[in-house]
Order: sequence, then structure tokens, then C-alpha cells
Amino acid sequence: MHITGRNSAQHRSVLLPLRTMTIQEEAQAISDQFEVSPAQVKESVREFRRLMKLGLEETGHAMTMIPSYVTHVPKGSEKGTYLAIDLGGTNIRVCSVTLDGEKGFKIQQEKAAVSRELMTTDDPSKLFHFIATRIKKCVVEKLDAKGEYKLGFTFSFPVNQTGPAEGTLLRWTKGFDIPAAVGHDVCGMLQTELDKMGVKVRVAALVNDTVGTLMARSYVSNGNGSLVGAIYGTGTNGAYLEKMTNIKKLGNEAQHENMVINTEWGSFDNALTTIGNTPFDVALDKLTPNPGNQMFEKRVSGMFLGELLRQCLLTLSTNAPGLGGAGLFSGQTLTQLNQPWSLDTSVLSMMEGDNAEDMAVTSTIIQKELGLTTSVPERGAIKQIVRAIGRRAARLAAVPMAAIVISSAAERTDVSIDIGVDGSVVEYYPNFIAMMRESLRDALDRRAEEVNIEIATDGSGVGAALCALVA
Ligand code: BGC
Repeated sequence: MHITGRNSAQHRSVLLPLRTMTIQEEAQAISDQFEVSPAQVKESVREFRRLMKLGLEETGHAMTMIPSYVTHVPKGSEKGTYLAIDLGGTNIRVCSVTLDGEKGFKIQQEKAAVSRELMTTDDPSKLFHFIATRIKKCVVEKLDAKGEYKLGFTFSFPVNQTGPAEGTLLRWTKGFDIPAAVGHDVCGMLQTELDKMGVKVRVAALVNDTVGTLMARSYVSNGNGSLVGAIYGTGTNGAYLEKMTNIKKLGNEAQHENMVINTEWGSFDNALTTIGNTPFDVALDKLTPNPGNQMFEKRVSGMFLGELLRQCLLTLSTNAPGLGGAGLFSGQTLTQLNQPWSLDTSVLSMMEGDNAEDMAVTSTIIQKELGLTTSVPERGAIKQIVRAIGRRAARLAAVPMAAIVISSAAERTDVSIDIGVDGSVVEYYPNFIAMMRESLRDALDRRAEEVNIEIATDGSGVGAALCALVA
């Protein structure tokens, strides 16, 4: 069943020139392709550890293993008021964060959507001007405008970080595409716009959202410090505390004992040696601005699960040429279904959670999102595919955690095997953590029980404030 081609219609015609199976049988056949066996989990963990080591030794690898210049994780006693902004996906968030020094914090925040136009503008200063405008608004409305503030800038894209508040953009992900910004210092671009507006804010820390998540989780956790911060949202990535002696590519810069590493695990296994590749993944990849990159992310994170479902439904639908009999959505017009990216990942979350016999919620969603009516058996077939996509995402999502736990376990006694997670997928996809745990057990056996996984709320805001404080 491993077929490549430009679109699902082509897959379908190669896959099954005549409809010989029922929709249910086809849904089963599609779902089977998303299965991640325990052996595959183990193999992926081995490959992850190999790529971790490689990325720590040399620059230039896709799984970049970026040193964050954060050299310790907080223990809960940090204090003060800081600004934080979070640019990571569809929204920009501006927050003022007050840390009370007793593992607690207060946060005031505002969100604004980043328009498609700004995400793909030719002129990067337009994006940074927009961000500076939002910061100014927060200072004027929420803080003493005469004060001077340190800002933690959560910028959730791969950056070649060269200091606590300094780093050049390596590449865009998650649908952002502003080529003129690549190779430039993102903190510098923001500081320029702030200075032009006369806002008394200093960009004090450049923070990946995963580093922020690790810091935030560590601040509220048990006082020993945490090991990993992970995001499973629009994109996916993780940061963890690494021994300096293992970060060979930093050479003589190794003056501290530890440093937080931003792995950029979204690009884990771009070579596709262990994470699998279905015809649906192939079709999705071709629709993205970065084909061949972020291949792990394209199987795990929120930006992509909806499109994967759409690719599967296209294959099941009557729209595919060369079909003799009736398929899914038989006799209906498939205008919306034919539209790339027309399904959001929240659709999968809602369907996964629809346990009623008639799957009425699923029926309403398909009607609303795709303008299509379905029978109960059709909804059953769709749900089976939803489950398969969600389950694969969760099982793969545990691979980096297991790899980091194995790599660190022998060397770490100073931090707990405590993992902070954040992001829409891990928070809202039903049973995501439970499915992840199953996969963790496949990789770690009984040791999986020692791994504590907690949602780290406000990871990027509070974490960025903590980085600004440390800076
Ligand atoms: C980015 C990471 C980020 C992750 C989660 C990925 O696409 O490359 O830097 O941490 O998304 O937001």
C-alpha cells in the first residue's frame, strides 16, 4: 500500500482501480497504515538518541540541538515583574508577569491574531512593528508607562542562538514564510522597532517556547527542577537540561555545568527511517512551504492532523477517479473537501470525543465543516481514521521524551524526571497523554512509571519572564 503521487486522487487510482472493499474495510486499511508498533517506538527512540548526539557534536543538522544559553532551571523562589511576548503560531500574546517567589505568579495578557499577510510579508519590519505596537499597548494600559521593563521574547522558530538575547533565524516553520528575515537577529529586529516607537523595553532574553515551558514547569514543580519542556500544539518541539560536557559543539564555551538545549525535534527523522510514511503524509508534505522538513512535526502537531484527515477522506470519497461503486459521501458535491487545509485539528478532537452511538456530534461537524451528510456507518469509518491519526501522533510524541529520559537517566541526579507539556493537542485531544504513556511504556518498560508528565500552563509567558529575570 506504499504509493507516492501528487494527490490523493492519484493514490486512489493506483491503490484501488475498482472499489472492491466496503468503506469500513477501506477505513481499516487506511488506519492500519498509521499504526506505530512497540518495536517501531523502540527503533525511533534509538534513532532519536543518535540524532541528539550528532546535533550536540556538530552544527548543521536538521535536528539542530540549539544551545539556549539558559544555564539553570528555576526552583520557585524567583521574584519580580517582567514583560513577555509569545510569537509562535496563529497568535501573538503579550503578557506582564509578576512572580511572587513562592512558586506562584500573576499574569495579565492579551492575544491578537497574526494575519496571513504578516506571516508571509516580504518586509520583516512589518511583522516586528506589529509586535512592538502590541507591547507598547500593554505597557501603556497595564503598567507604569514611565518604568523600564525587561522583556522575554518567546520566538518559537528555529534560531541559531548565540547569546541569551541574540540569535539569527535559521528557517521558518508552521506556515510562516518571510524569507528576508532568515539569517537576521530576531531580537535586534524587535528592539529596532521598539526604539523607533520610544518604548522603554529591553529585549533581555530570546526564548523558544519549549525552553519557556521547561522554565515555567520547573518554577511550579517540586523544587528539584524539571528535565523536559515540550510543546504539542500548532507545532511540536522540546527542550531539556543537558550536561555542558556533552555539548561538544560549544567547545571552550563550556563554563557552566548545564545548559538547556532546544532540540527542534520537529525535524526529527526528516530522512523517514523510523517514523513511517503513508501516501497521506506524502500528499500533505507537498502542500507545505517546507517539503522534506519538519517531518516528525507533520505527523504529530496540530497544524497538520486536520489535513491528514482530509487526505484520508478524499481517498475514501467518491471523488477519486476510477471508482466503480459508491464511496464515502456518495453523490454529494465535495467542494470543501477538495480544499487543502479545510479541516482543523480541533475537528479531530471533537470527533474523537464523540462516543454517542449515532455520533451526532460528528454528523454536525462534517455538515458544518464540509457541507456533507453522512450515515452512521460512514461516521464510524471516519472516526476509525480519526482515531488512527490521533493515536499515531500520541505514540510518536512519546519518542523524544523516552529518548531524553534514557540519555539523561544515567547522568542526572540533580533534577526530577519531570516533564512539563503545553499546547492545544496535548491539552485538548482526548486521551493524548494516556496514549503517549502507553508508548512510553513500550520504550522504557517499568521505568516509564518514574516519568511525571504535567501540563505547564502559561509555559511560554511565565517561562519567558523567568528567562528575562535570569538574563
Ligand atoms: C518550531 C519550534 C517550536 C515548535 C512549537 C516548531 O515548528 O520549529 O521552534 O518550539 O514549533 O511551537
